Amino acid sequence: MYRTNTCGELRISDVDSKVTLAGWVQRTRKMGGMTFVDLRDRYGITQIVFNNEKNEALCEAANKLGREFVIQIKGTVTERSNKNPNMPTGDIEIIADELNILNKSDVPPFTIEDDTDGGDDLRMKYRYLDLRRNAVRKNLELRHKMAFEIRRYLDSKGFIEVETPVLIKSTPEGARDFVVPSRMNPGEFYALPQSPQTFKQLLMVSGFDRYFQIVKCFRDEDLRADRQPEFTQIDCEMSFVTQEDVLQMFEGLVKHIFKYVKDIDFTEPFPRMKWADAMRLYGSDKPDTRFGMLFVELKDLTGGKDFKVLDDAEYVGAIVAPGCASYTRKQLDNLTEFVKRPQIGAKGLMWVKYETDGSVKSSVSKFYSEEELKTWLERADAQPGDLMLILAGETMKTRKQLCELRLQMGTELGLRDPQKFSCLWIIDFPLFEWDEETQRFYAMHHPFTSPNPEDIEKLETDTGNVRATAYDMVVNGNELGGGSIRIHDSRLQNEMFRLLGLSDEEAEYKFGFLMNAFKYGAPPHGGLAFGFDRFVSILAGLDSIRDVIAFPKNNSGRDTMIDAPSEIDDSQLKELNISILPIEK
Ligand code: AMO
Repeated sequence: MYRTNTCGELRISDVDSKVTLAGWVQRTRKMGGMTFVDLRDRYGITQIVFNNEKNEALCEAANKLGREFVIQIKGTVTERSNKNPNMPTGDIEIIADELNILNKSDVPPFTIEDDTDGGDDLRMKYRYLDLRRNAVRKNLELRHKMAFEIRRYLDSKGFIEVETPVLIKSTPEGARDFVVPSRMNPGEFYALPQSPQTFKQLLMVSGFDRYFQIVKCFRDEDLRADRQPEFTQIDCEMSFVTQEDVLQMFEGLVKHIFKYVKDIDFTEPFPRMKWADAMRLYGSDKPDTRFGMLFVELKDLTGGKDFKVLDDAEYVGAIVAPGCASYTRKQLDNLTEFVKRPQIGAKGLMWVKYETDGSVKSSVSKFYSEEELKTWLERADAQPGDLMLILAGETMKTRKQLCELRLQMGTELGLRDPQKFSCLWIIDFPLFEWDEETQRFYAMHHPFTSPNPEDIEKLETDTGNVRATAYDMVVNGNELGGGSIRIHDSRLQNEMFRLLGLSDEEAEYKFGFLMNAFKYGAPPHGGLAFGFDRFVSILAGLDSIRDVIAFPKNNSGRDTMIDAPSEIDDSQLKELNISILPIEK
């Protein structure tokens, strides 16, 4: 037997027990005639003591142990004279009488401690060492716990998990596909699924009326903190359901997981916000509703003063930062710099300070009287001591900029506590999105999303204003999941393809299999998918989903540990009938 106990297990009640432990050397300390070794495994750390007076040779051997050596020790559990209340095993130590080195270790490239000296890149290159650290391991443990509980919950509701293939044909989620060449079919490629969307719909045709799958999805898109090229969805689909049934079912799942992981009871139904309201009040379809600072529109109050910036603007919007009238010139300059950053793209920032004495100061006081500025403050229900921040320009663009500014102010004012959770549904999304560049409509969710039945007659005449039966779950400003009721009628589906600019041939080529299936009795159906990595990282209070993925990719989509992607050799290329064009650097 390699060990009788783990390194996180022994307590004062175990004193006098003879034990065998195995693990990694976290650190050694020599103090007088004693050598202390912190022995670590997945479960914790236990202090091992080697006494020079009792066993000189053993103590000598312990002094030679390096960090991360794998050792086995045998000894007796003893009460510590110098207890460490910060460690679960801090009341005891093991007086060692045997030491076996199971494996040596090179000096690790960074310290394997909670506060490590290793930078991001180094930790990713040696991810297997990074995963020995508490902080990272805890995230994977949480991930496991959640996956387990989600499966249990969905099983209890009659869902069955069905695996769907990974080598498939292009899926319609709107990102670029990762493709895989087929040796047996030269010149032809599989696509990796951006989601199992079409397969889960086929499973509904097959009569599996409650499907789920915790499943890897692949999207070749620019990476951000909440995006990885391969990520995991909790993918779900149900038959014979309305939007209300789907929202109820999965609100139940989310509430259950919050209770299970964080012991948080959401007793009220999650609020539902129409997409149009989310855009108007927050400038985003994933509003962070942990704090206020809702947008206020001022366009009708700002005209006719020969101030071109506001006269020419299609939209003038403001937020009110509570208690910020005391902001200094420097702080206001910083905010201006913030909104002018290329990623945000505003031309400038205007402000109105409602001083605590009731007077008003403003960056635009040259154009507007104090009385006029007060009508702006009144519209926003600002109080003395508050600061109004104003952006102007083209409606959608300016709303997005104001959204960034609002989030920044929320962060600055400490209003975005990661341990506070605000969940809501966004509903009534538009069915289509117009793209200026290609001058055509795209499906806002995906082309299988059903139009709101009330809007079907507008499909031809007022295409841009047709609402979808689609919904997103938003938590703390993150899109946790989204889905829709699907079109199950092949005629309406064909109409949809036509509106999206797909010719009959293209529709047949891309989605013929689904259209065919729909000829054989497709039930009404709908569903959604949650981003599992996002779900875990939100509950863990983390900023990036990388921290909850065992082996994530970096921002260039590389796995620096295994060095992928990498070139393949000529014989493999030949076998696949592929030649590489010169690469433009
Ligand atoms: P959607 O494209 O909205 O819907 O994806 C569902 C959820 O998956 C997560 N997600 C991601 N997580 C990490 N990295 C990524 N690159 C990434 N892309 C998406 C998000 C998102 O809300 N088939 C539909 C669902 C349906 O209609 O049932 C779909 O995939 O949390």
